[in-house]
Amino acid sequence: MADTLALVTGASDGIGYELARRAVEDGHRLVICSDSDAIEEAADKLRRLGGEVETVQADLSGRRGVETLWQTVEHRKIDLFFANVGQALGHAFHEQKWRDVKRLIDLNVLQTTSMLHRVGRKMRAQGGGRILVTGSLGGFVPGPYDAVYNATKSYLDSLCYALQDEWKENDVVLTCLMPGPVETEIFDRAGMQDAPIEDAKKEDPTDVARKGYEALMKGERGAIPSLPSKVITMLAGIAPQGLMAEVHRWGARPRD
Ligand SMILES: NC(=O)c1ccc[n+]([C@@H]2O[C@H](COP(=O)([O-])OP(=O)(O)OC[C@H]3O[C@@H](n4cnc5c(N)ncnc54)[C@H](OP(=O)(O)O)[C@@H]3O)[C@@H](O)[C@H]2O)c1
Repeated sequence: MADTLALVTGASDGIGYELARRAVEDGHRLVICSDSDAIEEAADKLRRLGGEVETVQADLSGRRGVETLWQTVEHRKIDLFFANVGQALGHAFHEQKWRDVKRLIDLNVLQTTSMLHRVGRKMRAQGGGRILVTGSLGGFVPGPYDAVYNATKSYLDSLCYALQDEWKENDVVLTCLMPGPVETEIFDRAGMQDAPIEDAKKEDPTDVARKGYEALMKGERGAIPSLPSKVITMLAGIAPQGLMAEVHRWGARPRD
């Protein structure tokens, strides 16, 4: 096994687990993190594939959780960082609990930025590294009935493109993975079981992770894994925002 370390957040399930699997298959040691003991089951599966895996169970929506994770890696060289953790939050904005809205922003924006700041500085100091941020196609589209989520992804997509520019003259590669809807637990966790998106055909998390991983290795700036998502990205650049919001509403608004 190569003496290289990959750090993956939100790795117990979904896209994060698949990214971790890719990293194991590529021979990297892993530190994987999520906020429940599901991370131990994920680690067992990855070890059965031959991976050398350490786990950190921490809630990354808070500073304490980020510090816990950071203490595990701060004195080590980090070769790959998958800033993947994120949650969504369905239903109308005014019906959501403020506590949940704040937690979403803390996780997707504040603490993800904190991790990127820490790892980015570290990689610059150590002379290089590769970072894949799981942004979203949702960052290009206003997202009625999951509004704050799309806004957080808009922030992340933008941050990625800005940091790529700042870091282009050194060896820190940053790629933004921007999938459309993917077949994972995210919609259930967001309370969107009663929205049409739940029944829609979605992208395959294994395929999404593979394309993101390959784009990172090639040093590409962005990865939009599916053709329909590429078309929506182009449309979002020319269609009125109000129209794009209506398209999103069809999928995300709870059925009456
Ligand atoms: N699925 C989609 O349609 C889609 C589309 C575009 C972008 N994305 C982005 O892809 C990323 C991964 O999403 P996914 O669909 O794979 O989600 P998922 O299947 O729901 O997995 C989420 C992962 O994040 C962990 N997690 C959630 N809250 C956490 C917290 N507060 N602290 C630490 N870990 C936490 C979960 O751990 P536990 O299981 O231990 O709770 C799990 O490992 C997110 O950034 C999401 O925004 C998803």
